[in-house]
Amino acid sequence: MDIRFSAAASGDVVVVMAGDGAALTPAGEALDKAANGRLTKAMAAMRFTGAAGQVADILAPEGLEFARVLVIGVGKFESADGLAVERWAGHAVKRTLTSAEKLVLQPDALPGVSKADAGAHAALGARLASYRFDTYRTKLKPEQKPTLASVDIAMDGAAAARARADKDAAIAEGVFFARDLVSEPPNLLYPESFAERLRDLETLGVEVEVLEPATMEKLGMGALLGVAQGSARPARLVTMFWKGAKNAKPIALVGKGVTFDTGGISLKPPAGMDEMKGDMGGAAAVAGAMKAVALRKAKANVVGVVALVENMPGANAQRPGDIVTTMSGQTIEVLNTDAEGRLILCDALTYAQDKFSPSTIIDLATLTGAIIVALGHENAGLFCNDDDLAHALQQAGQAEGEPVWRMPLDAGYDKQIDTPNADMKNISGKPAGGSIVAAQFLKRFVKDGTPWAHLDIAGTAWKPGPYEDPLSPAWATGYGVRLLNRLIANKFED
Ligand code: BES
Ligand code: MN
Ligand code: ZN
Repeated sequence: MDIRFSAAASGDVVVVMAGDGAALTPAGEALDKAANGRLTKAMAAMRFTGAAGQVADILAPEGLEFARVLVIGVGKFESADGLAVERWAGHAVKRTLTSAEKLVLQPDALPGVSKADAGAHAALGARLASYRFDTYRTKLKPEQKPTLASVDIAMDGAAAARARADKDAAIAEGVFFARDLVSEPPNLLYPESFAERLRDLETLGVEVEVLEPATMEKLGMGALLGVAQGSARPARLVTMFWKGAKNAKPIALVGKGVTFDTGGISLKPPAGMDEMKGDMGGAAAVAGAMKAVALRKAKANVVGVVALVENMPGANAQRPGDIVTTMSGQTIEVLNTDAEGRLILCDALTYAQDKFSPSTIIDLATLTGAIIVALGHENAGLFCNDDDLAHALQQAGQAEGEPVWRMPLDAGYDKQIDTPNADMKNISGKPAGGSIVAAQFLKRFVKDGTPWAHLDIAGTAWKPGPYEDPLSPAWATGYGVRLLNRLIANKFED
């Protein structure tokens, strides 16, 4: 799907904005006038209010060359932001993806959004909404196949909007990379094939290094390898380095990449287990963010470290009761093999710190079902040892539509993972505060004084259908890519 900017445009379908009280913007007013008031007449006939996401789909209005006009609400004009414009464009693409060929968007300036920004956000929204994961659907009927070939953003002063939109295209590429990885089935995406796909980032100037089990063994990654040992698929640890700045310590992004989580010997129940193909959503977000920063040539040093394993109950699987030694030297009593994310992340965190001395560490993981109980699918859980970093993440999440909600860390939770048999155990054994206990576990592997944030994205990496968010029209959301990219742009660039 091509996205183009122009002063005037023609096509099959034209889209304009409306706000509360069914108020049209200048572009819509002009169309309504040319159509002798047929837009306002149609809007009145369906009690159109201009609420965000509401659509008046008007066919063949007399007086216009367009065969179809979509009036789409953005809600209150005063409170509409860039994301509201993205959703507006997203609804338009969702409506026409399999029915039109040439879409014309006519964004207007809003009280809080300049015209150039509105144009750029419209482009990003249109792009994100066009995502599909059809790789394995070989029998789509013609009417199920996308027809939309181009989206023209018609506005005066298109050059400024185009310049921004070209940069934003990197974001969409990163988000799509993450969505694709999360969507891939677990028989095809496993540690080795995942690592191969990350190698492709080399063509963008990212330095990619892939560690195999023998090296991890030498480094002492006993916790990571303990999880991997139940699977026929060998583990991989992949680092991706984007060097866009001189001499600055990198920010490290660390991702949980469990390509399938059966629970291991502490086997999960069958219902919904297929969703555990998405248990590498943290690694996918890191990969997508690396792709976005490389594509837009960010002036920052960013290193991504992803731990890739499959958690299986094979003959050689680890047992509840096993004690493993981590790369940090600390020992862990594994009391539940289904609490495997923390076991691979702890070694990845130690490796990232020893090897890269990062200024800041952010880890992302589909770590606990408990975070879904707490926050649903709207916010990721944020656990952070540094208020400035926490605020920066909250701000970035708000701006990009990937919100985070801060959760506590405290000694009272930490002591729940003490055990008489080792330095710590991997579960608390109590049915409460599970997401916090998991975060306390990770915190034991972060050096004092290093700003660190842990994002539990178990509820946001994918969403149960129907997928109503126009910017995220599939099961996999790509959550985290926009958040990380924005954080880096705001705080870590020269
Ligand atoms: N991958 C799961 C967490 C998860 C659950 C992600 C649902 C997405 C949706 C993780 O490895 C896990 O199994 N966690 C356990 C921890 C428990 C054994 C302490 C959980 O949440 O039940
Ligand atoms: Mn698990
Ligand atoms: Zn898991």
